[in-house]
Amino acid sequence: MKDENFLKENNARHLWHPMGAPGDLQSNTPKIITGASGVSITDIDGHSTVDAVGGLWCVNLGYSNDVVKEAIAKQLYDLPYYSAFAGTSNPPAIEASYAVREFFAEDGMGRVFFTSGGSDSVETALRLARQYHRLRGEPTRTKFISLKKGYHGTHFGGASVNGNNRFRINYEPLLPGCFHLPSPYTYRNPFNETDPAQLAQNIAAAFEDEIAFQGANTIAAFIMEPIQGAGGVIVPDASFMGLMREICDRHGILMISDEVITGFGRTGDWSGARHWGVQPDLMTTAKGITSGYFPVGACLISEAVAEVFEKDNSGEAGIYHGYTYSAHPVGAAAVIATLAETKRLDLKSNAAARGTQLYEGVLKLAEKHDIIGDVRGGHGLMTGIEIVSDKPAKTPMDGATMARIHQTAYEAGAMVRLGMHNILMSPPLTISEGEIDTILSALDAGFSAA
Ligand SMILES: Cc1ncc(COP(=O)(O)O)c(C=O)c1O
Repeated sequence: MKDENFLKENNARHLWHPMGAPGDLQSNTPKIITGASGVSITDIDGHSTVDAVGGLWCVNLGYSNDVVKEAIAKQLYDLPYYSAFAGTSNPPAIEASYAVREFFAEDGMGRVFFTSGGSDSVETALRLARQYHRLRGEPTRTKFISLKKGYHGTHFGGASVNGNNRFRINYEPLLPGCFHLPSPYTYRNPFNETDPAQLAQNIAAAFEDEIAFQGANTIAAFIMEPIQGAGGVIVPDASFMGLMREICDRHGILMISDEVITGFGRTGDWSGARHWGVQPDLMTTAKGITSGYFPVGACLISEAVAEVFEKDNSGEAGIYHGYTYSAHPVGAAAVIATLAETKRLDLKSNAAARGTQLYEGVLKLAEKHDIIGDVRGGHGLMTGIEIVSDKPAKTPMDGATMARIHQTAYEAGAMVRLGMHNILMSPPLTISEGEIDTILSALDAGFSAA
């Protein structure tokens, strides 16, 4: 490896990072992470912190799972790559599809289409939804409905259903025929509704209204995250997803549950949809499917949707979509090992217990620090903290103060993630009670420095 000075000096000079302005990153050097162990990361200066971000909502198993590492290494020697485009397959891909299907059988999922990540999975689900309606003789069903504050990746399809304008404006015009409903965000919403159950009813009514306006026979699918992640960890009322499911059913609209974050135990259940007692038609996954050790995603297809493709007589059921790395043998080996480890360690139960500890700890911090406007979580290891400079006015905290909170917390032992004036946390699901306490005391230090 090149020496430290070379790395620091060249970091953002040649490398453009996702989700940042190239010029800013040249003047504010990103932290260079050189190693990791358990749930902690170490930077180039030798400073170690608990990773409350879990890489990027993905390192569910922590950084030291040798079972997954060895499976990846072995597969590299057996077969490092072969295409899975129709005509060829490979043993780990077949086994991985079996394992993923089994993992999500309780959600009604019957088939697996592998991708290279979350955006790919969303793109796949949107396309399959349109094709499904064409195969059933309803080719006018092409539109998509989604929620504001939702994040569905950065492909043009995903950005079009994305509910945060930061990911949209510079890339417009996006896909036509995409419409957005209010988010189940009690802290700020156009209804001024603070009761989550009532807010869920209001959004359901807005959905009905939009369907009547657009015409049900023009709408292909509704996509939502069971708990909105990147948008600020927005936890809906327990009734919300079921209400949306019932409306979709009544109007022949497919429901896509975007489980890129919520899948594989993060909510305290094996999927976010299961957490709310809902069976979607399609699910999109990535991240926890390999604990971030290898880039893999999967779009999952319910038995009923699969049947329409598999029993087609029109000759139009060919899926002319997919990726060079779909069903990659090394990625598939990572999936098999990750799912086995995820189940063996019962990650969902630890996520539920430690998630409650983190959430309750942050609620206590909110009693001490007036800059905490809203605390969201309590459903597994996803916690969001909204920081404000004026609590009654809910004024979003300025960027410089957010950066100071972040840096102080980092120095005090926890890497957290900033999403504008929100602090987002999604630590590895293997985290211990003591490590959650470390995150809480680091946050306390961060807030004290605001
Ligand atoms: C809910 C959701 N969908 C899709 C994506 C996009 O995934 P990727 O970044 O792997 O393309 C993300 C990424 O964070 C996500 O949180």
